[in-house]
Amino acid sequence: MWSNGFSRRHLGKLAGWAALGLSTGSVKSADAQSRSSDHKSIAAFPADFRWGTATSSYQIEGAVNEDGRGPSIWDRFAHTPGKIADHSNGDVADDHYNRYKDDVQLMKALGTKTYRFSIAWPRVFPEGTGAPNPKGLDFYNRLLDELLANGIEPFATLYHWDLPQALQDRSGGWMSRDTAKAFADYSAYVSERLSDRVKHIFTINECSRLVQLGHGLGLDAPGLKLSQGELNQVRHHVALGHGLAVQAIRAYAKPGTKVGLAENMVNGIPAIETPANIRAAEIATRELNAGYLTVILEGKFTDAYLAQADAPKHTADDVSIISSPIDFVGLNVYTPDHYVLAADNSRGYTLAPFPASFPHMDAAWLRVGPEALYWAPRHASKIWGVKSIYITENGTSSTDQPAADGNIYDTDRVMYLRNYLLHLQRATSEGVPVAGYFLWSLIDNFEWMDGYQKRFGLYHVDFNTQRRTPKLSASFYREVIRQNAVV
Ligand code: NOJ
Repeated sequence: MWSNGFSRRHLGKLAGWAALGLSTGSVKSADAQSRSSDHKSIAAFPADFRWGTATSSYQIEGAVNEDGRGPSIWDRFAHTPGKIADHSNGDVADDHYNRYKDDVQLMKALGTKTYRFSIAWPRVFPEGTGAPNPKGLDFYNRLLDELLANGIEPFATLYHWDLPQALQDRSGGWMSRDTAKAFADYSAYVSERLSDRVKHIFTINECSRLVQLGHGLGLDAPGLKLSQGELNQVRHHVALGHGLAVQAIRAYAKPGTKVGLAENMVNGIPAIETPANIRAAEIATRELNAGYLTVILEGKFTDAYLAQADAPKHTADDVSIISSPIDFVGLNVYTPDHYVLAADNSRGYTLAPFPASFPHMDAAWLRVGPEALYWAPRHASKIWGVKSIYITENGTSSTDQPAADGNIYDTDRVMYLRNYLLHLQRATSEGVPVAGYFLWSLIDNFEWMDGYQKRFGLYHVDFNTQRRTPKLSASFYREVIRQNAVV
């Protein structure tokens, strides 16, 4: 019996595993498998491609009051009536704080060799700055040791939206430059202590969403509805925080530590793949990311970004900090953000409106456009010359209804993943430098404003019992990893 009620017998019984003829024992190498298989996939990935899963602290850890953790803006927001669809919060979530050893076994059962997780700033600095809380950092020490003992390489994100509430209360959070400085100090502290085992660090997860949904639309914590000018200033402070953190990590982490970011880059897809539309999609993508990725990677704002009335207040020094060189770019890719056509206008492009009939998954925002996973890394490589790219998130929610036999046949998630991965393989086969892929997510978890109603996991979680059960997509992903190819 596996702990948390997830038994090997159950794993073996799940139709998906059995149908694929997979044992639940150790995963054979890709070589061994391809020798024994007569199914030749044309869609093979580079030999050293890294397969993993991704999660974040507030979405899975729970234990919000354990071992001296301070409150975060997400604790406050989730406990505010009316903010979360099912009136839930992350107080317990997946109880990963106490069940991390079992969860590492889930990763191992998939055959993943990497894992992207995030560190909760308020566990390490309960007040955001000042006295650290060694017990909080110890959790990540335990997690890292467990991952490495199981042959899984950790990739850590320093900020996945759980800002210490104290910083919001004291200085308005990301509305203040002080938060950028506090983030750098926290980054220095953590990277100095964990970089003996974590060799890849992401500064900030999805600046774009934390600015728009957290500070513009009020749908994410801290739930603000700021003006466009204030939003541009918040984005500038987040970019500055990223740059200062890069410098802090270079100064304090062990030599050889690699640093980057994880962004939901606004992705312009050529509506029809003609040279003119491809060029227009590149122009659009560069401009639509002007306040963050473009300035980070080019060392200057675009003219159009600066020409807007509400451009952020900044100094030349800010821009050189923001554009501190990074080692890799992480891309979170779920949807085609815009279909682009070349146009004879001053911008050189037009964005096609989405028809009401455009297909989506189990969330209205989750439009299905597998080619996004080709164009996102290709744009990063072509527009900015990025030499090392990770897909830091990709995946989908599904209704995940158990069938009569109790199994979850999430064929919609398998369809989604297969088609997106085919496009990722198209990119790697053309030499786009994608080094790895982190599937969102390992387990069902707290999906922000949707609470527990949207499930993104490869493993189903019963939130009453904390029982984890593999879905059919877990079998699919395991086989992809085993063959190092789309199956
Ligand atoms: C991106 C975010 O980083 C992650 O936290 C979220 O759960 C997924 N998108 C799915 O919405």
